[in-house]
Parts: sequence; C-alpha cells; structure tokens
Amino acid sequence: MKIILGITGSAAAYKGAELTRMLVHAGASVHPVMTRAGAELLGPKLMHALTGNRPVTDLFDDPSPYAHIELIEDASAVVVAPATANTIAKAAAGIADDALSTVIAAASRVPVVFAPAMNVRMYEHTANARNMASLEALGYVVVHAEAGSLACGDEGRGRLAPVEYVFEEVMRVVWPAKDLARRKVLVTGGGTREPLDPVRYLGNRSSGKMGYDLARAAARRGAFVNLVTAAENDVYLPSTVTVTRVNTAEEMREAALELAPEYEAIIMSAAVADFRPADYSADKVKKGDMPAEVKLVPNQDILAEIGSAKGDKVLVGFAAETGNDIEGEARRKMAAKHLDVIVANRVGGEPGFGTDTIDALVIGSDGRVNSVGVVSKSELAELVMDEIAVILNK
Ligand SMILES: Cc1cc2nc3c(=O)[nH]c(=O)nc-3n(C[C@H](O)[C@H](O)[C@H](O)COP(=O)(O)O)c2cc1C
Repeated sequence: MKIILGITGSAAAYKGAELTRMLVHAGASVHPVMTRAGAELLGPKLMHALTGNRPVTDLFDDPSPYAHIELIEDASAVVVAPATANTIAKAAAGIADDALSTVIAAASRVPVVFAPAMNVRMYEHTANARNMASLEALGYVVVHAEAGSLACGDEGRGRLAPVEYVFEEVMRVVWPAKDLARRKVLVTGGGTREPLDPVRYLGNRSSGKMGYDLARAAARRGAFVNLVTAAENDVYLPSTVTVTRVNTAEEMREAALELAPEYEAIIMSAAVADFRPADYSADKVKKGDMPAEVKLVPNQDILAEIGSAKGDKVLVGFAAETGNDIEGEARRKMAAKHLDVIVANRVGGEPGFGTDTIDALVIGSDGRVNSVGVVSKSELAELVMDEIAVILNK
C-alpha cells in the first residue's frame, strides 16, 4: 500500500504527521509531498523521519526529473490532509503549478482523498463550498471538516476531521478487495443491557469490538453497512457505516427487524440477553427495598426470528460456546436458525470478551469447518466477509 500524503499550509499540518504515523503503523509506505506553505508549517525533516521517504517539495529541485509521475504510477491513493482552501481550489480547477497540485492533476487513475481544514470564514465561503462540491463531482473523496474551536481562536466549522476518521476513510478507499461493492450489510454488535431501574441493569461482558470490526471490514470491501450496536464505547468507522444505537434486547430486536428487509446480508454478532428482569422500577430502588430475588422473563431469539423469514438473504450467526462439543452445538444452531454461516466463539477462557483476539470456529455454507483458532477480531471479520462474498457473488 503506497500512499502519497499531501501536506499543505494549514495550522492543522501537525495532524498530518499524526495521520502519517497511523498509516505507517497500518503497513503503508507513505510518500510525503509538501506545498511550500506546508513545509513552512511542518518540517520536511520530520516527515522524512516518520516515513523514511524524503518529501517532495519542489518539482524542479528534485533529484528525479519526473517525480510526480514516478510517485503516482504505483500509488494506492493520494491523500491531502490537511487540505487548504488554496489547494482545494487548484485541484477543483485542475491547476498544476507546484509539486502537490501536479501530482493531484496526474492522479487520473488513483483515488484522491481531501481532508479540508481552514478558518470558518474560509470554509463557509461560497467559492470554497463550490470547490469542495467540484472535488466530489470529480469523484474525489472529501472528508468534511467538523465544527469546533479552531487554531486561530474562532469557533465554527473548518476544523480538520479527527485523524482517526480520516484514517478510516483512507483505509476504505485503498482496501484492495471490493467484492461487496454496493452490497447492503446489516451487522449487530455489543451486549444488550436489561434495566432493573434507571441506574442498574443486567448486562454481559461483550465489548462490541467484534461488531465494529465486522462493520469496518464490510465497508472496506465496498458495502453500505448499518451497525445496530448496544456497545457503549464509540469508535471511528468509515463513512459508509451508519450506526444505530440501542440498549436493550427488545430495542435491538425492533431495530433489526425493521432494517432487515432492506439488507442482503445480516451478521448477528451481538450478545443479546436471553432474559430480562420481569419488573422495571421507574424510580431508583432504595437499598432497603432491594428484592432478595429478581424474577426474569425470556427475551425473543432475534437470530431465530430473522432466520425463519430470511428468504435469499445471507444470514451469519455468532454463538458464544463453553462446552466440549462446540462444533456439534454450532451445527445444531445453524440448522435450527437457518444460518448460512456460523461463527462459534469459544468463551470462558483466554482470549475472552473485550480483547482484540477471539478463539473461533467458522462453519461455512458448504458445511466445511474452518477452525480458525485464536485470531484477531479484524482477521475473523475478513473471513466472515469472504464467506458472505462467495454466497452473494455466486
Ligand atoms: C499559521 C498559518 C495557518 C494557516 N492555516 C490555514 C488553514 O488551516 N487553512 C487554509 O486554507 N489556509 C491556511 N493558511 C493560509 C495558507 O497557508 C495560504 O493560503 C497558502 O497560500 C496555502 O498554500 P498551499 O495550499 O499551497 O499550502 C494559514 C497560514 C498561516 C500563516
């Protein structure tokens, strides 16, 4: 993965260095191209040190006579972060009068991502709004700026989007496999919380990480994703993921049943509570009034319910198992709930909930067992997408 990273003369130039670190950490070879103003605000030496590649700052002062073409030839993407109003205007017009704008002008076969950053007055200017719209019309990805306090002390829209979010967008754009392009994928994740009163609930130890990794993997492969999650933490996801937040099993059921008809593949990784307290107190229960026993009533099995009316949708279920016959139990659930793919997740030992890894066994639509063992949740998400892509693209 070779990324040309354009740094322009914005007060947010230092965030370009942070993005560089994230991309390098993800295994990308980053090639900085800095405008004159960009190189004034962020040292080219630092970018050289962070990337191992000498930044191109001047086409006519570069050892290579064709630096702009050599750079672009085998690049996965050009990313301009931060992007000034000036560089955006030039790119919108196809102007090529310095190293970065010439590289952008030569990027006819490579995706280009812009992350604008500027003062609110500049951001709101009709010319800038028109130029950003032109970039999108040209097929470029624009990661729109957010509102907040700006480097100059003003408040308003114009602050560079969080670098974690820019990173997610870049990874989505450069991801090589696009075998779920324009597919609609519904993912559930997280552990539901069943309230006893306004402050107490019965919950489980699911962190929601698996759901986030599944949503991200599907989006990177080109799908439009809706993630219905009960997870309480927040993570950055690509722009093609819509997040629907729920708390209880019943809320998750309502959201999943309402959304399901629109989706071609449904992956249910949420840890949905099997039971909920029979009674809910609208007021916080006082210590002295605490019942000795809590009566539970069963929740509906959302996976079975969706499975019973699944039609030609691809349905993937996750099952947390602790016994000795994990495969047998997984096969039983697969048949009973009409699943195309099941991921049986060995829990109770290490690794467990909340970790980056998972101990899993995947049974695919052909009945073949893929005992993947301990893998990272993001690797497992890729395996699940492989299974879905095979079925959808048959
Ligand atoms: C300290 C400082 C911060 C600046 N921050 C921004 C900015 O965030 N966004 C922007 O569009 N211009 C900003 N400018 C103005 C640009 O640097 C100026 O328009 C320059 O010509 C942009 O050139 P470039 O697009 O080739 O980098 C800033 C200028 C200075 C001196």
